[in-house]
Amino acid sequence: MEERASRWAQVAGKDSGERYAARFAALADSGADVHGEARFCDGLLRPGSRVLDAGCGTGRVAIRLAELGHTCTGVDVDASMLAQARRRAPELAWLEADLAEVAALGLDPDFDMVVAAGNVIPLLAAGTEPAVVAALASLLAPGGLLVAGFGLDPAHLPLDEAPLGLPDYDAWCAAAGLAPVSRHATWDGHAYTGGGYAVSVHRVG
Ligand SMILES: C[S@@+](CC[C@H](N)C(=O)[O-])C[C@H]1O[C@@H](n2cnc3c(N)ncnc32)[C@H](O)[C@@H]1O
Repeated sequence: MEERASRWAQVAGKDSGERYAARFAALADSGADVHGEARFCDGLLRPGSRVLDAGCGTGRVAIRLAELGHTCTGVDVDASMLAQARRRAPELAWLEADLAEVAALGLDPDFDMVVAAGNVIPLLAAGTEPAVVAALASLLAPGGLLVAGFGLDPAHLPLDEAPLGLPDYDAWCAAAGLAPVSRHATWDGHAYTGGGYAVSVHRVG
């Protein structure tokens, strides 16, 4: 496949991992809740589930889910982000790969959940999104869930414009054999009634 830079690579610097980790450490120190995504995911999972954190970055979601008793694997293409994840939780599996090529990793297709938190979907390389959604869906066990949270306008994205809307995402999921389960406005689980951010849950159909 022709190499295309992710939108993340266009907005992140070489020290993206250090800066991202420092930003979340500061938030945690200030008393902010930095575990909303993991709590939301945990609420959908049986104890001891298998979770793939797709675009895991510094690993903050996978690490928290592992603390809650799940078996977590993180995949990310940004070595600087993964270095932070490996430093914080060397016992977990961190794989450096482009999600467009995730099938080549040979992972067992028995994940109970694939989570793509923190704008991963809009930060993929342009044009690769349907293939990535299909590749992620192919790693799910029967009944497994794909959970993705992302911004839908510039106020909720590190981009000048939103590269996709919810109809695009739903169409990619449908093409990958995923049926919609629920949609939320926040990781607190409030129902989505419109707005610039959505958390979408789809299930293997
Ligand atoms: C804003 S960060 C979010 C990190 C993490 N999910 C979180 O919520 O803290 C977006 C991540 O998506 C990753 N990403 C973007 N495109 C990717 C791709 N094609 N393959 C793997 N990771 C990708 C970036 O490397 C980056 O770590």
